[in-house]
Amino acid sequence: MPRLSQEVLAVADQVVAWRRHLHAHPELGFQEHETAKYVTQALREIGGLEISHPTKTSVLARLRGGGPGRVIALRADMDALPVTEETGLPFASQVPGVMHACGHDGHTAILLGAARVLSSRRQELGGEIRFIFQHSEELAPGGAQELVAAGVMDGVEMVAGQHLRSLLEVGQVALSSGPVQASADEFRIGIRGDGGHAAYPHMTVDPIAIGAELVSALQQVVSRNTDPFEALVLSVTMFHAGTAENVIPPTAELVGTVRAFRSELRSETEARMERIIRGVTQAHGADYSFEYQYGYLPVVNDERLTGIVRGALEQSLGQDALTIAAPTMGAEDFSAYQQKAPGVFFYVGAGNREKGLIHQHHHGLFAIDEDCLAIGVQAMVATADALLAVGISQ
Ligand code: NI
Repeated sequence: MPRLSQEVLAVADQVVAWRRHLHAHPELGFQEHETAKYVTQALREIGGLEISHPTKTSVLARLRGGGPGRVIALRADMDALPVTEETGLPFASQVPGVMHACGHDGHTAILLGAARVLSSRRQELGGEIRFIFQHSEELAPGGAQELVAAGVMDGVEMVAGQHLRSLLEVGQVALSSGPVQASADEFRIGIRGDGGHAAYPHMTVDPIAIGAELVSALQQVVSRNTDPFEALVLSVTMFHAGTAENVIPPTAELVGTVRAFRSELRSETEARMERIIRGVTQAHGADYSFEYQYGYLPVVNDERLTGIVRGALEQSLGQDALTIAAPTMGAEDFSAYQQKAPGVFFYVGAGNREKGLIHQHHHGLFAIDEDCLAIGVQAMVATADALLAVGISQ
């Protein structure tokens, strides 16, 4: 396990207490009112910070160092999920059907811990650190783009964020340059046929049969139209139609997601999908509607900053703690900040196979090894120190 510094050990118990309170009181995206109040109160107690609320349920804390220097931002997300907690932990969710099942309670507590450590030595720091406590990462259109629009990134030169990961053992930190999380787009297909009696299918245009063909045909976009060396996911995740066993309905609706790393591939996929939808529906005499909504951009780590942060993390946590983060087709609106400034997003191990902490994020049994919290604080502090020193110490 990584060795923790004195300044991190001094806040470790507090970080666990913050995290447990947040865990017991989860709130969904855009509804983080009590969470924002709690975070604001904790930041006030830390002291030395200028606190504001760029949106209704987000919190921004600015720490101005004793001298001039870089302006950097550190980000945590604060929202929970519509998942029923099944862990039975003493600090389990007190809100039925809502749970911190992705670890954002941990992210928030870690960033508070980092704020406390860095604020305690603000006189020696040069520049400015913005601690962004973001609302709604899980719920599109996401809080990040609202915060960017509200100006939290204005003047920021570099940005960093982290995510706990239960499938990574506690003590490990994963980091890679380049694309690490995919874009996430949403599509909605309407098929308008002609309904009627199920016993007389020849007098109808059956949108269910057409929809089934469409689900299969759309698989060709990935398997036949896209370079096998390119990552692309196209999943139909909803198929709605019908009201009775003896009625062919007039319409059907298909909904799904497209994940990719390259932006041109997204528009190419949209065009290929439309061609297939048009062809299949026309072949059977049906009409269609097609909406393709562009969502979160891919998270792409800046190569230079990744090298700098990797060096800092190796020095702080030990070389053995660092591992490579394989890209995933999951999505994160941290990418919105990276449109304004180069950034780094890394993963902090939170799982522990020996203790049975092996459940995936978004699962009712999702749980973290709380030792990851202090490690997360140390990683965030080391990242902040390294970014503040960019171009100054090197
Ligand atoms: Ni998450």
